[in-house]
Amino acid sequence: MDILGISCYFHDAAAALLRDGQLIAAAEEERFTRKKHDYEFPQHAIDFCLRIGGIRSAELDYVVFFEKPFIKFERLVLSSMQTFPRSHKVFREAMITWFGDKLWIKHLIQKRLGVPPSRILFSEHHLSHAASAFFCSPFEEAAILTVDGVGEWTTASLGIAKGTEIKLLKEIRFPHSLGLLYSAFTAFLGFEVNEGEYKVMGMAPFGTPRYIDKVYKLIRLGDDGSFELNMDYFSFHHSTEKTFNGKFEDLFGPPRDPKAHFFTPASGYPSYFGEKPGNFADVGKQNQHYADIAASIQAVTEEVMLKMAQYVYKETGLKMLCMAGGVALNSVANGKILRETPFEELYVQPSAGDGGGAIGAALYAYHMVLGKPRQFIMEHAYWGEEHGPGEIERFLEDNGIRYQRFDDEEKLMDRVVDWLQEGKVIGWFQGRFEWGPRALGNRSILADPRRADMKDLVNVKIKFREPFRPFAPSVLAERVEEYFALPEATRHYPARFMLYVVDVEEDKRDIIPAVTHVDGTGRLQTVRKEQSRKYYRLIERFGQATGVPVLLNTSFNLKGEPIVNTPKEAFHTFTQSGMDILVLGDYVIEKPIGSN
Ligand SMILES: [Fe+2]
Repeated sequence: MDILGISCYFHDAAAALLRDGQLIAAAEEERFTRKKHDYEFPQHAIDFCLRIGGIRSAELDYVVFFEKPFIKFERLVLSSMQTFPRSHKVFREAMITWFGDKLWIKHLIQKRLGVPPSRILFSEHHLSHAASAFFCSPFEEAAILTVDGVGEWTTASLGIAKGTEIKLLKEIRFPHSLGLLYSAFTAFLGFEVNEGEYKVMGMAPFGTPRYIDKVYKLIRLGDDGSFELNMDYFSFHHSTEKTFNGKFEDLFGPPRDPKAHFFTPASGYPSYFGEKPGNFADVGKQNQHYADIAASIQAVTEEVMLKMAQYVYKETGLKMLCMAGGVALNSVANGKILRETPFEELYVQPSAGDGGGAIGAALYAYHMVLGKPRQFIMEHAYWGEEHGPGEIERFLEDNGIRYQRFDDEEKLMDRVVDWLQEGKVIGWFQGRFEWGPRALGNRSILADPRRADMKDLVNVKIKFREPFRPFAPSVLAERVEEYFALPEATRHYPARFMLYVVDVEEDKRDIIPAVTHVDGTGRLQTVRKEQSRKYYRLIERFGQATGVPVLLNTSFNLKGEPIVNTPKEAFHTFTQSGMDILVLGDYVIEKPIGSN
């Protein structure tokens, strides 16, 4: 039985194909269209899933959409009416876009995929989130927590799941939203909403949470983790352009200029920003104010998440917790929940945001509508497209690019390990691309984490990212506990997907400075032989050569672009950046690039 799950028209569009209850393919649309966070109908991702499945769309047994468009439309209309006339622009835009495509999803799926209406199903947004976590988890029963910007009406829910059933017991409804609160600060701090949330999280450790009291003027938190926003400070419920208003600015001062470089006295002024300005010290001090705000909203978010988790623990008495929704990508908060609540294990799947709704929708239909038993655990994130040796060689030959092919894998590993030790930055392209926003060793840029200057070097060569954003360490699963404060590391699924931030052991911080954040933490990836054989072997060889089984891993893309999919995109990124070596499967290209 083939079930296609689709999520689109909000944040990240994606498609996933389930065959007899097993996931066989899943991908976000942006990887194919090269449009970051592409939210349009995911035709390319669907075509990819069908290719992997070897079927035509008309042969699908069911197509499941991740939310209910009419209920969402109702929320838009009702909340626009409540804030009319301020909301007239939202209302007008909603009418145009919703009456265009968004409302007629069933018809659209029928038209595009040739599937009759009787085989098209709809889940609910937060149920899709919940299903995407629980039905991918190894747990027979678990507590559920979903937290995001907004679905139809729901912005957070908690519940209980057992076997093939999920019951959402409580919810918080729009406009009261932890995700939208965080996004309002993301915009205030000069970053793009739904993209810059990671930057706020990375910036937070550079600040002191001195404005917690002020943040609590915006949100009232109950002991049970329920909350209400004070809507006097926000405009996201009636504006298409602004998420916060003048009253918010009265409280926190003017927003940060998005075009200005961000650095603080602690982050220093990186060389790739160009010449140091004369007023460096003053600007740094001003920026400190923004870092303090980032620290404050992060602290409050963690507090709300902890309260919610504690409450759902109390209500369910279960030791396992499944989390999903955009806020579940806050890996700092996730680490805290593991450490500071009675939950023993968490499960968060790599695409915890709206893209993940595609998998959730398909699994919801299979288990909760059709009543089929569970037989799938998401052990890894490699569900995207693969480009084999034939395709790689053809690309290199057709373009006359000089390469070296390594038939002996050990020789390739030795060569790459030597290069890493020489301080070279390596593009590492292997197998199927990852599901979700993180690169986990199949579309990664790798470097030596032992060099303190490596962070700046990678930034200068490739990323040009803000200096306050940490790079992540990939570690052999069995060696994690030597370096990180994550007891029994191998059993924690979120750590496989870089979804926990934990302390780097104090005596190891100087050993891996390039992946240790300013507060002594790291967003680690545990790498397991069973799921990532080649990447595991590379780190193992690096460990044998240096005594440190850790690599710096950052996603294979240029700033602002989606992670690469094809050899062509990888090569293009290689030529457009200061990367030294490109490894495509067993094929190696060195700079300067020669021709055949
Ligand atoms: Fe969501």
